[in-house]
Amino acid sequence: MPDALKNELLQLVTDAPDLAALEEVRVAALGKKGRVTGLMKELGGLSPDERRERGAALNLLKDEIAAAIDARKADLNTAHLKARLEAERIDVTLPVRPEVEGRIHPISQTIDEIVAIFAEMGFTVADGPDVEDDFHNFTALNFPPGHPARDMHDTFYLPDAGDKKMLLRTHTSPVQVRTMLSKKPPIRVIIPGRTFRSDYDMTHTPMFHQVEGLVIDETTNMGHLKGCLIDFCRAFFDVDDLPLRFRPSFFPFTEPSAEVDIGCSRKGGELKLGNFGDWLEILGCGMVHPNVLEACGVDSTRYQGFAFGMGIERIAMLKYGIPDLRTFFEADLRWLKHYGFVPLDVPSLASGLTR
Ligand code: DAH
Repeated sequence: MPDALKNELLQLVTDAPDLAALEEVRVAALGKKGRVTGLMKELGGLSPDERRERGAALNLLKDEIAAAIDARKADLNTAHLKARLEAERIDVTLPVRPEVEGRIHPISQTIDEIVAIFAEMGFTVADGPDVEDDFHNFTALNFPPGHPARDMHDTFYLPDAGDKKMLLRTHTSPVQVRTMLSKKPPIRVIIPGRTFRSDYDMTHTPMFHQVEGLVIDETTNMGHLKGCLIDFCRAFFDVDDLPLRFRPSFFPFTEPSAEVDIGCSRKGGELKLGNFGDWLEILGCGMVHPNVLEACGVDSTRYQGFAFGMGIERIAMLKYGIPDLRTFFEADLRWLKHYGFVPLDVPSLASGLTR
């Protein structure tokens, strides 16, 4: 009798067309009121010998049916997934439909443009962690302990964890250190990324973006630094004769150091970039300090080079006429629709940076 029942139940399992039907078969066989369960309940009325024999046979039957149900379930699931994959196939190479609302954030767009320009000059992109230690963010960059420049950074320190003082990086410069520690010169990298300072007003947000540049080899000098930044600014702002002014300045990690202004006009309250006699500061730069090279294991009697750093929001605001820094991070879809960029308009120098 179990054989006939077994064959019948196995047939039902095989014939179940979907998961719901299979579940019905399971309940009818193994559920509380199922047929196999019913037979189990009858065991009580048998003699001990009969009970042992029949009990063993019923247990076997139960296991076999349960295994068959599991196998069928797996088959049905695979078939279901396969059918879905076939039915829901999408062609990722199709162009974006115009009615799609998504926009590229001006920060992403600006970073893409910066990368496109420096890639043409032979730079590669490097990155590093947002959570840094004191060594990479300050000490290796020639900020001595207690140096006032550390206070100027309004650092977010993390709760003490062990012997290392951890913080949110206040600039992208620590990635200079990481790059020099992990790569041999010649080095030619840019480092776009998030930075953090405890500050909030019209022109400061606690999180903002910078792009860092670093060139290290045996011959690079201040003339190369100037040429590189002049070419970059003219390409980025798309003003062929944009004048640049290099003003002496101070950063612990460069010597000499300079701040760079670009030419502009503020006539009538409107800011225009070009050769108009007025100036606007946009970045810091200099020749990498020998102390920094040595802290990173680079022989300062053989190697030299330049570094620069600039705020990405600032140059994005200038280029795209965005008046308030804080709006970048308010996640307002109307703002994004107005200032954002159409996807797949990937910037390159050949196609024009923005269209
Ligand atoms: N790290 C500086 C800051 O956040 C910016 C900077 C200045 C970076 C000069 C540099 C540099 O690499 O050479 O204020």
